[in-house]
Amino acid sequence: MQSTWENVVAFDLSESGVRPVSLRELTKLGFDLEAALDLPLGYSQSNGTIPLRERLAAIYPGATVDHIEVTNGTSEANYLVALALLQPGDEVAMEIPNYMQLWGIPHSLQAPLRTFRLRPEAGWEPDWDEFERAVTPKTRLLYLSNPNNPSGAILSASAMERVVRRCEQTGTILLADEVYLGTELEGERTKSFWGMSPQVVVTSGLSKAYGIPGVRIGWIVGPPSLIETCWSQHDYLTICPNKLSDLVARVAVTAENREYLYARTRSILRANLPLLRDWVASFGGLLELNEPRAGAMALVRYHADVPSRELCERIRVEQSTLVVPGAHVGLEGYLRIWYGGAPEYLREGLRRVGVVLSEVSRGAVPKV
Ligand SMILES: Cc1ncc(COP(=O)(O)O)c(C=O)c1O
Repeated sequence: MQSTWENVVAFDLSESGVRPVSLRELTKLGFDLEAALDLPLGYSQSNGTIPLRERLAAIYPGATVDHIEVTNGTSEANYLVALALLQPGDEVAMEIPNYMQLWGIPHSLQAPLRTFRLRPEAGWEPDWDEFERAVTPKTRLLYLSNPNNPSGAILSASAMERVVRRCEQTGTILLADEVYLGTELEGERTKSFWGMSPQVVVTSGLSKAYGIPGVRIGWIVGPPSLIETCWSQHDYLTICPNKLSDLVARVAVTAENREYLYARTRSILRANLPLLRDWVASFGGLLELNEPRAGAMALVRYHADVPSRELCERIRVEQSTLVVPGAHVGLEGYLRIWYGGAPEYLREGLRRVGVVLSEVSRGAVPKV
């Protein structure tokens, strides 16, 4: 749905990153444009150049270049881990709501999928009974996004511990997608799962906290034997990351630039969230904002008897504005709204969504 409409509508509030960084901004962080102009545009090293993998390894204590595979985005990183690990019949578990990539991949690999809920009423802690039913000795892979897309929730230290211990008991590989790590609005940085157990594999990339989705750089951090298998799968898929992008990534991920880019992301989110809050409040009791702790999207619960897919379709058709129906991320009765863009864009997008919500609350019939 997003791919079909996001570039067609006038206002796209289905996004999930922040207003992206430009190449010009990166030159201020040390990207050498002149040198890039002379770079022969050959194939890049297929698992990522050594300088880039060295810089990435420095982020993850105990990791070496052999623990890292550079990919075309976090989505390719997740895909490669699943391809490397799953055989037909292997079970996969994932939390709901979630980024739904690991819902689709097991289906195409004939791997049965079990889900467990994160409970909004419990600060988005997992439903532990469901979790234990979903993660068993048959589970090859467990996928989490932390911070979570779409709730913006961050698992507590004790919840992380419980997840990891369960994976150790059941022999399950935990795939922790940490692409939103660094997008926290307040307080402490999200703790990485990296290093909590040999069962842990982490994926991440430049798309969210760094604000650079267009260069399509992601990475996998894991045991060297798994990384080697992912690397050979990578050769069959896209061969290598983009050479120019590898160069951009080397600049973005240095300790100093990473902190700068995280701070940029945080300041965008902090400036925009009050706009969303005020907009939600202006509807009286019709809407409820789920305050995100991290990430550039927020869940808004609506109290109207209309399925979220239908509501979003009406918003798109009548207002040329795209928001994600909760049903698409496993949570009916919610809208997922992007608030990481320019303030004036957000204001107008919200105004348009509001027109339809007001009509719905008055029981007005759709125009289409
Ligand atoms: C949790 C999560 N992982 C991965 C991705 C895709 O990231 P990338 O653009 O790095 O492929 C997204 C995109 O929304 C996401 O929300």
